[in-house]
Order: sequence, then structure tokens, then C-alpha cells
Amino acid sequence: MRQIPFNQFALTGNELKYIEQAIHSDQIAADGLFSKRCQTLLETELNANKVLLTSSGTAALEMAAILANIKPGDEVIMPSYTFVSTANAFVSRGGRCVFVDIRPDTQNINEQLIEQAISDKTVAIVPVHYAGISCDMNIIMRLAQKYNLLVIEDAAHGLFSDYQGQALGTIGDIGCFSFHETKNYSCGEGGAIVLNNKGFVERAEIIREKGTDRSKFFRGEVDKYTWKDIGSSFLMSELQAAFLYANLEQAQKIKEKRCAIWSAYYQALKPLENKGLISLPVIPDSCEQNGHIFYLKTQSAEIRGQLLAYLKQNKVHAVFHYLPLHNTEMGKQYGEFIGNDQHTLETSRLIVRLPLYFSLQDAEVKHITKTIESFYA
Ligand SMILES: Cc1ncc(COP(=O)(O)O)c(C=O)c1O
Repeated sequence: MRQIPFNQFALTGNELKYIEQAIHSDQIAADGLFSKRCQTLLETELNANKVLLTSSGTAALEMAAILANIKPGDEVIMPSYTFVSTANAFVSRGGRCVFVDIRPDTQNINEQLIEQAISDKTVAIVPVHYAGISCDMNIIMRLAQKYNLLVIEDAAHGLFSDYQGQALGTIGDIGCFSFHETKNYSCGEGGAIVLNNKGFVERAEIIREKGTDRSKFFRGEVDKYTWKDIGSSFLMSELQAAFLYANLEQAQKIKEKRCAIWSAYYQALKPLENKGLISLPVIPDSCEQNGHIFYLKTQSAEIRGQLLAYLKQNKVHAVFHYLPLHNTEMGKQYGEFIGNDQHTLETSRLIVRLPLYFSLQDAEVKHITKTIESFYA
């Protein structure tokens, strides 16, 4: 048995061919043939109004913060159990993070605790769909409507997952995806912003093109382009878009494989959950998932450490996940946790993520589950 890495990006076979085609197309900067193909595929598959590729999921969140007009003192509600970029994008514009506890079953923001965190400074709610399993979007959208707030979905994990039949990333005003190599579909570093609110499209194109109307110029809609707004270079190069397209055109196959591995883990580990030794993820009836992460939670941090070490001895690289943002120096300076932290720190201390990727072999999944069984035996 080889050392089983925690992650391997998906290769479907056409990556080099498409990169070569991009090179021969004479355009390796942004928004060439492959960017358009990726954007059209995503718009069609997600039934989305407008998708723009970005240089990362972080860049998509940063664009969202600019589109939301975040200014100093504005508050943005989010979980503390998330990646740093969820917070940084808003803090970089002067915003403050209002952290809300998560649910212990999905590790998503607890929708029941959001209303008490809303103040007259709140501008947006940022649900993070952890592991590609949706937050309770009905309640979140209802709150946003009631208090006139924007919803910016951090769907970095959630491409091709659904909530009540609607694709994640297309439910709020804006959705953000990541194509980092740890994600289901990748190009090394990359992302996309989904503009569900049509009013954001024109400004988003400008922000993404260094604050200029160059996109309009390239389409022949203006005869020169100039400085129109703040912005940055949030674009994805064609070389990356070519790689990404090879992944995206096999999206169904990749998702099926990942979900099959997820189910194999779940079935094999369920008896340990039944004995009370671990807890497993819960997928609410309203959600169809994409097999992004398989995790379990141990009974204590000590056991978690022992399990990770045991897996490592047995050639399996399993890992923990986010450290709560509200406990960091930055989180204390730029944010505040509203209510009690009942589950955020606990999840962070107990969670174990198992290897899950397109090229993972059935025999390897078996080896991993047998190793966990033998640890608990
Ligand atoms: C929840 C979440 N949001 C945002 C990001 C940022 O994505 P990227 O790495 O593409 O910048 C990540 C990355 O892992 C993430 O997990």
C-alpha cells in the first residue's frame, strides 16, 4: 500500500491538450476561448444568471465585498468555523465580522442564532456551505429579506451541490466558488463569482478588470476603456481556464466518484457511530451534496490526536480543519462572537477529514476504514 495522500487534484486526461490549444489560440491572458467555455458551462449547469472566473475563491469574496460596498464599521455575519478568506475579504474593506456559532450536525452556521446577531450596522450574511452541504437557505433568505441584507454565499466547497433543487452559489445575491487544488474541480488556484442579482453584473466586470470597462471594450461596446471604479486584477489566465475546463467537462463523473467514496466511508464507519465512538456528518433532506469532504468527529481532542497519529503510522494522511477565527488575534481585533461558542471550538478540536479524491482507489478506502476500525478495536 502506498502512502495515501490527503488530497490529489483531479486529472481527466484533456488538461495538457487544452493548455496547448490555449497557447495556439494566441491568447493566454483572461477571457479567451476556455474562460468563455467554463463560464457558459457553469451558467448552464447551475442555471445561473452570470458567472465570471476569478483568480481564486478569495478573489471572488473580495469582489463580493466591494460589490456590497462594505465601508468601515459595517458588520457582516458569518461562522467563525471557516477559512480566513471569508472574513478577510470584508475586513480588508473596513468591515467587522460578527461570528455566529455552528450546528453540530452539519458544521454550518446555526440559522436560529443569526437574527440575534443582526444590528443596524449589518450589511450582509455570509453562509459558508461546509463540506458542500447547504446551510438552511430558506431561513437565511427570509432573514435577509426582513432586514434588507445581502446574502453572499461562500460556496467554495459547494460547486454542484443543491439546496431544494437549486444550485449552491445561485441562491443568495452573490455566490463564490474556489478552484484551489483541494476542491472537487480545480486549476491549481482559481475561483468564480456568481452574480445572481442582475444589478451587480456591470460593476463586477469593471471591478474584476482593475476598475476599468475593458470588458465592454473587448466586446466592442465602447471605443476605448478608462478608469471607472475601484478594482483589481481578479482575472483567471486562459492557461488555468484550459486546465479547469478539462475538469469541468467531466464534472458529473468526478462528482459520482467522490459521492461513491463518501458513501463507502459512511457505511463502513456507521457501526462505530452506532457504538457512540464517533459522530458522522448529517445531510439534511433539503440537500444534495457533492462529496467534497468526508469527516468524522472523535469523542475528545486527545483521541483525535491519537487517531491521526495511528492513521499516519498506517500510511494514511488524514487532517483536521479550521481553527476558529474568533480566537485568533485578527478575529479578536476585527470581529466579535455573538452568543455562546457551544460547537465552533468543539468541532475544530474533534474533526478528522479523510482522503477523498477522484483517483482514490477502492482498496485504499477499505484500508482507511479498516485502519479506523482497528484503532477503535
Ligand atoms: C470556505 C472557504 N472559503 C474560501 C476559500 C478560499 O478559496 P481559495 O483558496 O480559492 O482562495 C476557501 C479555501 O479553501 C474555503 O475553504
